[in-house]
Amino acid sequence: MKCVCQHVYARKILGVLDPGVKRGIGDLGNRWPVRVAIGSQVMVNGFSSQRDLWAHNRYNRSSFPDLPAQSAKFSTLAACNWARWLHILSSARMGITVWILNSQRAKIAVLRDVLKFQTGLPGFRSEFEVVARGILGSSNLNFTWRLFCVMPLPRLNPWNDWSSTEEGLARDADSVAAAIRDIRVPLGIVRTERGLALRRSDLGVFNSTPSDSQQYPVVGFVPSVPLEQLGDLSFCTDHGLRFPYVSGAMAAGIGSVEIVEEMAKNGMLGFYGAAGLNPSRVEQAIDRLQQTLGERHPYGFNLIHSPNEPQLERAIVDLYLRRGVRLVEASAFLDLTPHVVRYRLQGIHRDPSGQIVAPNKIMAKVSRVEVGSKFFAPAPAKILSFLIQERAITHEQAQMAEAVPMAQEMTAEADSGGHTDNRPALTLLPTILALRDRAMSKYRFTQQLRVGLAGGISTPSAAAASFAMGAAYILVGSVQQACLESGTCDVVRQMLADAEQADTTMCPCADMFEMGVKVQVLKRGTMFPMRATKLYELYRTYGGLQEIPAADREWIEKNLFRATLEQVWQQTMDYFATRDPAQIEKGRNDPKHQMALVFRWYLGQSSRWANSGETSRRLDYQIWCGPAMGAFNEWTRGTFLADPKNRRVVTVANNLLYGAAVLHRLNILRCQGFPISRDMAMVVPQELNQLRHHLDH
Ligand SMILES: Cc1cc2nc3c(=O)[nH]c(=O)nc-3n(C[C@H](O)[C@H](O)[C@H](O)COP(=O)(O)O)c2cc1C
Repeated sequence: MKCVCQHVYARKILGVLDPGVKRGIGDLGNRWPVRVAIGSQVMVNGFSSQRDLWAHNRYNRSSFPDLPAQSAKFSTLAACNWARWLHILSSARMGITVWILNSQRAKIAVLRDVLKFQTGLPGFRSEFEVVARGILGSSNLNFTWRLFCVMPLPRLNPWNDWSSTEEGLARDADSVAAAIRDIRVPLGIVRTERGLALRRSDLGVFNSTPSDSQQYPVVGFVPSVPLEQLGDLSFCTDHGLRFPYVSGAMAAGIGSVEIVEEMAKNGMLGFYGAAGLNPSRVEQAIDRLQQTLGERHPYGFNLIHSPNEPQLERAIVDLYLRRGVRLVEASAFLDLTPHVVRYRLQGIHRDPSGQIVAPNKIMAKVSRVEVGSKFFAPAPAKILSFLIQERAITHEQAQMAEAVPMAQEMTAEADSGGHTDNRPALTLLPTILALRDRAMSKYRFTQQLRVGLAGGISTPSAAAASFAMGAAYILVGSVQQACLESGTCDVVRQMLADAEQADTTMCPCADMFEMGVKVQVLKRGTMFPMRATKLYELYRTYGGLQEIPAADREWIEKNLFRATLEQVWQQTMDYFATRDPAQIEKGRNDPKHQMALVFRWYLGQSSRWANSGETSRRLDYQIWCGPAMGAFNEWTRGTFLADPKNRRVVTVANNLLYGAAVLHRLNILRCQGFPISRDMAMVVPQELNQLRHHLDH
């Protein structure tokens, strides 16, 4: 690498990035891992005011004792907006990797860990990895970039030269809390003789020249935290979203078209709950969403693995392909099936520039690495051969498939409502993030793989923790069901509003009953979990309906079915006559299977009774729900959101994101030694119109 030093004030030259250089900055190696700010020398004319210029120079001078007097020529870490400059430096100080390029022609990019940075400068197209810690200066004369290590980070204290007067300082808990909650406004932390205080940067706060009045040093900084930037920006960009917030699919249309519409129109993503519905019902939802949202807004549908009904999985994939549904949430898969692979690969092609484009996108939802590793990989050769044989894809498409992951996004689903492995989010997310990194190194996909988190997210602190742990987005379910737009009934919404933390339990599910698979449901106010568990015990113990002891049979017929076993078997046969006649045949020949089908009738009906609000069956309601519900009720207790009539998906979503941003700012304050009281840390739900001004740019 060529090294040219034209600037005497650079302490150490790290390298030069020429247009041809692909990876730059060696030298410091891993001794100082990551954390960098970079400036470019193009902005001397770009300062918005004399004061900015002065501020800038003053910083440079303190960093470079040997900086020549005409140092205005030197690189600008920020020009027009010094609040942003402080933000950037504080980010660097806090360990976020920051690249800054400030010129009218280039953009500011804040990226993490491994940076990919491209300027708008002609002829300059470089990618490089940051391995240094410190502030880097750079020059772009002649479009050759020279990168200098200016100062190791521990000595960085960029706001040391700044001070504030007493006026306008936030000191008491209320005014500190108000300042923190105004998430768009960066704050300075000011040391006074009475302790630390806050100063909003929009008040014209910081002085860089001594004045007559008492001056306090600025000792820290809190950046603005726009909700758009809580997760992975590229996730939002790629899906046309404003916020990194997803409403998970909820079976039988509980994840309703209304939820999907509300999400989409407000910059978020919703998945329609297609599971358990027949294709014609799902198609009605497609009709509606394509009409109301069209190409303008993003939406997705659930593609659920149906081990008992492979033909249903096939029919749903056929439907999605025929109707141009471009995004699915793939869930409950234990392994890849030809159907899900066919969905992903149909239409894969090269665009005019030679890039491989797979128009159908999958967001996989997983709780296990074994399953996740299948989705963060190209489609397996065996299924590709099968699909070629079936003429579902061509040889050429199969070749292209080797370069694309089955899913670019994966939701790590921790302990949640419905199907769940009850994994703790604190351990699951890092595991799936590690899986992502392994997959990236192994397959070197051109697209970045991304991981979101679901399961238990229903409070600002859970949302904040998810993002802090590296989730690209958050996905919610239980709280969405409790909202007005969901496809359940008001009685269920009230039952959900009454739920407390420990009011959920695991019990047998209808779709994988024989395999002993369980779902998480609400237990308060319903006897379903206990009754379903009893049915499963009977199924395990006996070889068929005829073997069930008389007392148990009577209990089932009287309390659960309100019909004889024979009547229910008849209804079951009627149901499967059109849907899957092979089941009837199998049931006739295999008493154990017949028993499973009859018991599954009850498990299936109990969800329908709940969704439709069948009053005579209230004690049989099957309501999928996770511990998130109790946490949400606790958070909203005594506020307008305690009333189910006020729970709207957009209000809830914005409150969660906003609360996460506030808590993020609080944590930044805490890390800088600012004492945080209990009151300051309370994020109370707000009506949407109160929140709006925090959301606006
Ligand atoms: C009532 C209900 C029904 C659900 N149905 C489905 C479903 O059909 N398909 C699916 O992939 N996930 C389903 N889920 C899971 C959600 O999409 C989401 O992943 C999960 O609820 C997130 O965890 P949380 O409940 O803690 O918010 C369901 C969840 C609930 C609460």
